[in-house]
Amino acid sequence: MAPKKKPAQAKAKAKKVATRKATVKRKPAASKAASKASKARKVVAPKKPIRIGFLIGKDTDLVEDPKYVGDASFMDDMPDKYRVDPESKEYLKNCEGGTKGFAHADVAIPWYIHKKYGSDVVVDMIFPEEITLKRLKSNMCNYIIGYDVINSIFEGPQRYREVTKAFKECGNLMPSWEVQDFIYIKSRYMQACMDAGIPMAPTIFAKKGKRSPTKLLAEIKDRGWQTFVMKQSMMAFSLGFCKLKVEDCEKDPSILANYFKDYAECPEYVVQEAVDGFTRNWETRVFWFNGKFLYAIANKAAVSTEDGKEVIITGDDIPSEFLENAKRIGEQALKVLPQLCTPSGQPIDMTLIRTDVGCSDSQLHDKNTNWDPNGRTFFLNEIEYGGTTYFIRHLKEDWVPKWAELYVNKSQEIFDKMCEAAA
Ligand SMILES: Nc1ncnc2c1ncn2[C@@H]1O[C@H](COP(=O)(O)OP(=O)(O)O)[C@@H](O)[C@H]1O
Ligand SMILES: [Mg+2]
Repeated sequence: MAPKKKPAQAKAKAKKVATRKATVKRKPAASKAASKASKARKVVAPKKPIRIGFLIGKDTDLVEDPKYVGDASFMDDMPDKYRVDPESKEYLKNCEGGTKGFAHADVAIPWYIHKKYGSDVVVDMIFPEEITLKRLKSNMCNYIIGYDVINSIFEGPQRYREVTKAFKECGNLMPSWEVQDFIYIKSRYMQACMDAGIPMAPTIFAKKGKRSPTKLLAEIKDRGWQTFVMKQSMMAFSLGFCKLKVEDCEKDPSILANYFKDYAECPEYVVQEAVDGFTRNWETRVFWFNGKFLYAIANKAAVSTEDGKEVIITGDDIPSEFLENAKRIGEQALKVLPQLCTPSGQPIDMTLIRTDVGCSDSQLHDKNTNWDPNGRTFFLNEIEYGGTTYFIRHLKEDWVPKWAELYVNKSQEIFDKMCEAAA
């Protein structure tokens, strides 16, 4: 996903989150979501050719890159406006003539669909600034592939309000608003995973309106932690991430006080005991579609490497112990997600979900956690969806055609279900 603004601005922009009702109860049951959808909308059968939208906006997931193993010639006639200038991170349509840009996964996949399946589906690639309720409704469904509500936060309060409203009201996003909302606010899925017995790093949620630096530090000490990390909901790209020592925070209360001041509007901080294993072991990201395994990549995030550079491995370079455990835990995590439904309310298998699994191999101090300090404990770190990084250029096989096929088949499935519902 692409914040078109620098991190420094993100802080101020993130303030908008204040108006978000962080305590809104989600409606988890499939039947509930389904009946709500069908009550709210009269089902009209979609027409052929099927119109599908893609919400684009990435600048961190290149396909037009020397590392891409596929045949990139399908993009030869792609309009340049869809390419991103690596310097300004802007689409070329917003750059001076002559600027050179490159395509990312979120435009490469829909363009491939347009080229290969153009007689079955009409592809509508929607730039962030083009998102309106009317535009979304003009398609049978719209896939989140490169832009979502979190990106809109970086574009200021008004845009955040508009995008959220359009997302909630259009009723035809894939995945649905119910699924997105469950993932945006991390405590929802994290708590559900913990309740389901899925291993997770020791975690405290510090929610807006109910938190203070002193209370948080007391809670952290009570849990027995010595080092901890601060993360946030409604945030991405490791922004708002920091690693702190309890000892330092006790000596200098301004450390936490400043964090609370800087991110006063964030709906919730996700505070975790620092797991040192992140700096030594792979975090394995598993990609799922229709609840089935597609591929995995393993990496060490920039915040977790000594030189601040991200390291990535894929395919059979991923040690099988890591892959197998990441799949095992990811599969469990998929089960806590709300049921995805078509715009007409029929249950349907899930679109892209990515489950990120970490590995702990040293002592944790949390009083409630009993992980073997001498063995490896795999745990769920995060769940992401549609607009997440696909890492296509790092893969040893060409995944553009495969993603295209998955999205086209899913669209056909939705079309059939909507026709059934309308009959
Ligand atoms: N509890 C933790 N202890 C140590 N490092 C962590 C912890 N949680 C996350 N990290 C590091 O920070 C990175 C970003 O955190 P993550 O939860 O994935 O948030 P996001 O990807 O949304 O920024 C992780 O990939 C990992 O390297
Ligand atoms: Mg992450």
